[in-house]
Amino acid sequence: MVTFGGIFCVVILAVMLPCLDVALGQSTDPSEVDALGAIKGSLLDPMNNLENWNRGDPCTSNWTGVFCHIINDALHVTELQLFKRNLSGTLAPEVSLLSQLKTLDFMWNNLTGSIPKEIGNITTLKLILLNGNQLSGFLPDEIGNLQNLNRLQIDQNQILGPIPKSFANLRHVKHLHMNNNSLSGKIPSELWRIPLLLHLLVDNNNLSGPLPTELAKAPALKIFQADNNNFSGSSIPATYSNIKTLLKLSLRNCNLQGAIPDLSAISELGYLDLSWNKLTGPIPTNQLASNITTLDLSHNMLNGTVPLNFSGLPNLQLLSVENNRLDGAVPSEIWNDIVLTGNRSLVLDFQNNSLKTIPAAFNPPQNVTVMLYGNPVCGNSSGAPIDSLCQPQSVNQQTSRQQQDSSLICSPCPSDKNYEYNPSSPIPCFCAVPLGVGIRLKSPGITDFNPYEGAFGDSTTSLLKLYIYQLHVEHYIWEVGPRLNMHLKLFPSNTSLFNMSEVVRLQHVLAGWEITLPDIFGPYELLNFTLGSYVDGISK
Ligand SMILES: *[C@@H]1O[C@H](CO)[C@@H](O)[C@H](O)[C@H]1NC(C)=O
Ligand SMILES: *[C@@H]1O[C@H](CO)[C@@H](O)[C@H](O)[C@H]1NC(C)=O
Ligand SMILES: *[C@@H]1O[C@H](CO)[C@@H](O)[C@H](O)[C@H]1NC(C)=O
Ligand SMILES: *[C@@H]1O[C@H](CO)[C@@H](O)[C@H](O)[C@H]1NC(C)=O
Ligand SMILES: *[C@@H]1O[C@H](CO)[C@@H](O)[C@H](O)[C@H]1NC(C)=O
Ligand SMILES: *[C@@H]1O[C@H](CO)[C@@H](O)[C@H](O)[C@H]1NC(C)=O
Ligand SMILES: *[C@@H]1O[C@H](CO)[C@@H](O)[C@H](O)[C@H]1NC(C)=O
Ligand SMILES: *[C@@H]1O[C@H](CO)[C@@H](O)[C@H](O)[C@H]1NC(C)=O
Ligand SMILES: *[C@@H]1O[C@H](CO)[C@@H](O)[C@H](O)[C@H]1NC(C)=O
Ligand SMILES: *[C@@H]1O[C@H](CO)[C@@H](O)[C@H](O)[C@H]1NC(C)=O
Ligand SMILES: *[C@@H]1O[C@H](CO)[C@@H](O)[C@H](O)[C@H]1NC(C)=O
Ligand SMILES: *[C@@H]1O[C@H](CO)[C@@H](O)[C@H](O)[C@H]1NC(C)=O
Repeated sequence: MVTFGGIFCVVILAVMLPCLDVALGQSTDPSEVDALGAIKGSLLDPMNNLENWNRGDPCTSNWTGVFCHIINDALHVTELQLFKRNLSGTLAPEVSLLSQLKTLDFMWNNLTGSIPKEIGNITTLKLILLNGNQLSGFLPDEIGNLQNLNRLQIDQNQILGPIPKSFANLRHVKHLHMNNNSLSGKIPSELWRIPLLLHLLVDNNNLSGPLPTELAKAPALKIFQADNNNFSGSSIPATYSNIKTLLKLSLRNCNLQGAIPDLSAISELGYLDLSWNKLTGPIPTNQLASNITTLDLSHNMLNGTVPLNFSGLPNLQLLSVENNRLDGAVPSEIWNDIVLTGNRSLVLDFQNNSLKTIPAAFNPPQNVTVMLYGNPVCGNSSGAPIDSLCQPQSVNQQTSRQQQDSSLICSPCPSDKNYEYNPSSPIPCFCAVPLGVGIRLKSPGITDFNPYEGAFGDSTTSLLKLYIYQLHVEHYIWEVGPRLNMHLKLFPSNTSLFNMSEVVRLQHVLAGWEITLPDIFGPYELLNFTLGSYVDGISK
């Protein structure tokens, strides 16, 4: 298999620009040609991926990763798509001379140095995609000038220093993904003023407290994930119960103290992780939103009893209160309103508390796992039917799934061009050449993907304008975060090969975040796009 490596701007140009313009001999704005020269000059390109960046005109001679449009009768570079090209070196400040740039994509390379402050001059920028590099230095305040910015992805770098207050000016930004860096200082309280902010991911940094109470005024916030920072001395602001749009709050291992506020008023809350803190007092008893799938309060110092209102949560997948100081009875009604059909399951982890009694008839249904190890109730009842629930266990949802092998019943496909069976095809044993797509859900609102796989397939195919049988989720695996890493295969519809414009369309839609998955799946990131034998078609 050959990972995407072709010169697909060729096709984009052919598709998007009237051929006439090229024929008229139009050429790229000269300052932009210079800018591309400077950008190449400060990159290291050991695999010669930018070999053709000195041949003819960037926009009309098919330079790798350069996409152009005609704006005000002149050819301008609008996208730099240099996703996973084995590039290192630095990002030249001259990038700011690309005055009509909308997408700056250097994801999954090895760029070093800092993000140049001149980037703040490119007022047209919509997507800054620099995740998965080795960038260091501070975040420039000037990014706050980018009034059209929709998405800032700088996760998985080594960026230092504070989150600039100027980000409050990003009128159009929806996604701030800054996890896995070395950001420090407070989360600026001004961020609540970003009117469209949906996803704020700052987990795995070195941020300190307090958590901004003002964030509660954020008008659109759905996901706030800040695990593995040190908000020492800070408690969870009670005002967070006012974030009506909040779907996920994840503050694991943040050195938080104090009581858990009553979050029952957040009607969309689907995922709450407050584990590995120093939270004290009782668990609030009011009924949480019916959408909740995951509730992890483990490894705190909570006391009192397990609230009766944990029953009647129809979407619950995981309730963990492991390693606290809870006493009283083991609740026996939690699963009552859950329809456990198909591959639906529920894990209830009560290990290492002080639960002393259990109802006489304690009979959890199949697919409900109850963990009681480390509670006095286990010692009290030797030989009782609950003994099997008293063994030490770790929460072990189905963590991965491998491909089913259909080749056993079908005769082999032709071996040229990477033909494969489409396991979902309505025509049995139909050989076709798939595209491979590695994606990762960065902050999903679920703990068990199994019951959601159907919904994921339905929405992904409908957003990509494919039939449901054109998608095969080959395998998935949960990674730390938790994040869900998946490999998808996209098959042509009842023919063996996609045509090239379809290949380009799919790549562009996925890499440009032109689709939005349902909220429950959270943000996704593209890890790879495997062209396989289509690479020949694309690089002619
Ligand atoms: C660019 O690609 C198009 C379409 O594949 C091709 O016709 C054209 O000759 C290429 N131009 C250059 C300069 O390589
Ligand atoms: C990047 O380098 C790896 C390892 O050398 C290689 O397998 C891959 O094909 C390269 N990709 C590109 C686009 O150069
Ligand atoms: C980046 O560098 C690291 C080690 O220096 C290497 O393992 C990795 O493959 C490189 N990645 C890319 C995309 O070049
Ligand atoms: C570009 O940005 C730099 C630094 O932010 C600034 O000094 C310079 O004036 C800007 N240039 C233009 C042409 O706006
Ligand atoms: C983020 O950082 C955490 C803690 O260092 C690490 O366990 C995790 O693998 C990192 N995640 C990614 C996607 O790099
Ligand atoms: C984290 O921030 C503290 C100050 O808040 C600093 O002393 C410490 O060195 C930082 N740690 C890392 C790993 O950057
Ligand atoms: C967290 O911060 C506090 C106060 O700055 C410090 O005393 C403590 O050692 C830090 N904890 C960790 C795990 O870094
Ligand atoms: C719950 O989730 C569903 C989809 O999973 C969504 O349609 C609905 O709006 C959510 N909110 C409530 C309050 O049910
Ligand atoms: C359960 O929640 C409802 C609604 O918030 C509340 O009225 C009731 O008192 C709660 N029950 C218990 C036992 O706390
Ligand atoms: C829970 O712990 C707090 C101290 O953190 C204590 O004041 C309170 O009395 C305890 N409550 C129960 C029910 O044990
Ligand atoms: C749930 O139980 C059903 C039978 O009641 C079984 O077929 C299914 O495999 C179980 N699912 C899981 C995930 O355990
Ligand atoms: C693409 O990413 C997926 C998910 O991480 C992985 O399983 C697959 O092996 C990757 N493919 C290539 C060609 O790197």
